[in-house]
Parts: sequence; structure tokens; C-alpha cells
Amino acid sequence: MNVYDSEQIASGLRTMGYQQDSSIKKADLVIVNTCSIREKAEQKAFSFLGRLASLKMKKPELIIGVGGCVAQQEGKRILSRAPYIDIVFGTHAVGRLPHHIKEIRKKRSRIVDIEMTATIEESEGFRDFSGNRGVSRFVTIMRGCDNYCSYCVVPFVRGRETSRSPESIINEIKSCVESGTREITLLGQNVNSYGIKENRISFAELLSWINDIDGLFRIRFITSHPKDFSEDLMVAFKDVDKLCNHIHLPVQSGSNQILKKMNRKYTRELYLEKIKKLRCFCPDIAVTSDFIVGFPGESESNFQETLDLIELVAFDGLFAFAYSDRPNTPSTRFSNKVSEMEKAERLQKLLKLQETITRKKNAALVGKTVTVLVEGLSKKQDQIEVPSRFDDIQWTGRTPTGKIVNFIQNGSRGLLNDIIDVGKLVDVSIDKAYSHSLAGRSVKI
Ligand code: 5AD
Ligand code: SF4
Repeated sequence: MNVYDSEQIASGLRTMGYQQDSSIKKADLVIVNTCSIREKAEQKAFSFLGRLASLKMKKPELIIGVGGCVAQQEGKRILSRAPYIDIVFGTHAVGRLPHHIKEIRKKRSRIVDIEMTATIEESEGFRDFSGNRGVSRFVTIMRGCDNYCSYCVVPFVRGRETSRSPESIINEIKSCVESGTREITLLGQNVNSYGIKENRISFAELLSWINDIDGLFRIRFITSHPKDFSEDLMVAFKDVDKLCNHIHLPVQSGSNQILKKMNRKYTRELYLEKIKKLRCFCPDIAVTSDFIVGFPGESESNFQETLDLIELVAFDGLFAFAYSDRPNTPSTRFSNKVSEMEKAERLQKLLKLQETITRKKNAALVGKTVTVLVEGLSKKQDQIEVPSRFDDIQWTGRTPTGKIVNFIQNGSRGLLNDIIDVGKLVDVSIDKAYSHSLAGRSVKI
């Protein structure tokens, strides 16, 4: 979501004549887009802002802005904490940023805009895709969340749930595709409830509209809430041919006691049942998830239930986080907080278990052929300045299930009618499996 918002911020600034630069020292304007989902993210934002003070001292005309969730949460407190900041703009103020920057340039005023709007359209900024050929892009379809999980800051910093119109989503995807995008990931806190409040088309219908866009190869979405993960979406994995067979379905905990305290509104049994049903519709679907360890009151046996669920589901991958208190959330007032040491230990145990599962799953792909959407040269490739031979070139991309594949072209250029390039779909035979990636050779473009 922050990647998407940052692109929108950059688009608005480009309309004012600004250009993106990789050197912060040369900049006339620095915008820091922040995240407050966990305490660590917020600390990172403040430590980065701290480092900007000396920059401003050397160059007083520099304009510094802070946007995103920390800006929304802290508002004018940021200005007292960091007096060298010129503008604090919240999650609904992205579209108004260019106007504010003009005001600052004219009057050198300091601005705080954390006003929230009822619909996304009211606060939407301008997006242009010129000169930016991202093969895989995010497109926001919804904003905010009404679920109020007891640990989560999102409803407070992103506001009430609201959906964009299907027309504006389709238009945006079409312009992405025109500029070279082949895969889009639809973003929303809970895509299952897309359009319900506004009485728009359903999420499943939106998927089939997007499926009809020529030139688009792949559709993904994040995130779906287990309580609302419905059969029509399971069917979509079978019926919508561009929809990748991967679902990210955050479960957070395997303990009913903890799930209740988290206000997640489902049980471990319901979650397991949904996964079973989904795998009936789509047997080779990859399932990934999010977990929080050390939620207040999480006992050792509650944690064991989480480990047990991980083994039962055999996830393809997961993200796990140590619980942290977030402002305004109910769980900050819960008793029996778990110590930092215990949280760290549980996190390590959980990640270790998942690593063995991922390795096993990846190893099962050796000898198989997978289809990869080419995203560019692999990281290793970045280190080779001029490849000496054609088959030294290592490409990177993902399978429909979201696994990273690094591969070389099999055979010489002359033997193949086509050449590998960014944005192409390539069949790759897998030779090696690692815990975070696969390696192989191309078979067919
Ligand atoms: N502490 C730790 N992890 C959190 N998440 C959300 N809020 C918190 C918190 N207070 C995690 C959840 C969510 C992911 C995006 O971040 O696992 O799915
Ligand atoms: Fe946060 Fe829960 Fe909404 Fe996800 S569903 S954004 S965890 S409140």
C-alpha cells in the first residue's frame, strides 16, 4: 500500500515539475512516506527523520514532508518533535499534496493536513505512468478497514472502509498495461467486502472484468480476511484464468482463545475448513499467511497451537511478527503482556518450522516446469557488468504461486526463435531449490 501511495505522491510532484533523484543531498524536496503498522516501522520513520535535520541545516530552503500512517497518527506532534519539517500530510491528503507544496514555496508556511475524506475519489491524486515500465504493479481498489482487530492501527490511520469505482480501477489498470505492466496486484485490507457499502459490483465480478483486459497476463490480490473468504472467491480461482493460484490469507494465530482476544471473528477450525475447501477447488494453490507471536496472554500452549496449525496447513510461506502495542488499539490495555525475550524466541521457533516446510515444498518442484513472468535481471546479475556469454545472463521472475525463480536461457540465442525479455512469460525447468527461491533453465518462451 505504501509503494502504491508513494507512486501517487511522486506522480503529483512530477506534475509540478519535480523529478525523482536517488541522491538525497541534491534534493530540493524530500518526502518520507511512513508506516505505523508495528512499533518498529514507526521507530524507523522517526530515526530517518532525525537524520534529515542536518540536511536542512546545510540547506534551509529544502522542503521536508512526512506522509503516511505515522503522519496521520501523530499530526502536529511531528512538527514539535522535528521542527525542521514543513508539511505533515495524512493518508487521505495525498491528492492535496501538490497544492500544499505550492503554498509552502510561496509563504514558507508549515502545514498539517490530516483531514479524512468519505470516499477515495475525493482524495485521489493524479497518477501518471510515463517512463515507468513496471512489469508488476499494485492498484488500490479499497481504502481503510472496519474490522477493528484488537491489535491493529489500520482503522485509526486509514479510516473507514471504502471502495473505488470499478470504472476508475479498470481505467488505471488499462493505462498500466499500456505502459508495459503485465501483472497487477489489487490492494485492499479485506477485498471480500469490495463494493458492498457502495452497492457496486462484487469482488468476484470485478475480477472477471479485469480478466478481460487485453495485454494483462496475471492478476493477484491482497488481502482477504478468513471470516469473509467466501465460496464465490474460491470458485474464482478456478474460473478466472488470469488469477494466479496464490492466496494470502492471514490467520494471525492458531489458538481460538487468542483469536477471540484479537477480535478476528473466526476459529481455527473454520480457517482449516476453508483451506480444505479451497484446495478442493484448486488443488495446487499456494497459501501464505501472517502471524503475530506473543499477543497479550499468549501462553506456551496457545503458541503450540499456532505451530500445530502451521504444520497442518503446510503454508508455502508466511510473515511473522512480534506483537507490539499500537496507539488507540484495545490490546494495549490487555494484561499478561509477553516479554520481548519470549516473543523473540517464539518468532525464531515459528520461522524455523516454516523454513523446513518451505524447503520441502520448493524441493518438490525440482525437475518440474513452471511458468515465470520475467521481471528483470537477477540480483546476482547486477554484479556482472558485462556478461561474457549469453548463457551467463540470469533472469528473475515469479511463478503464478508467487515463488521467485532465477534462471538462465537454455541454448544459444540462435537456437531459439525468440529472446527472453522483461514482461514475457517463460517456461522454466527447475534444477535447484532454496528456502527463498528456485533456480533453473528456460525451456520455451
Ligand atoms: N503487532 C504485531 N504485528 C501486527 N500486525 C498488525 N498489527 C500488529 C501489531 N500491533 C501484523 C499482522 C498483519 C500484518 C500486516 O502486520 O500480522 O496481518
Ligand atoms: Fe487490521 Fe484486522 Fe483490518 Fe487487517 S482486518 S487491516 S488486521 S483491523
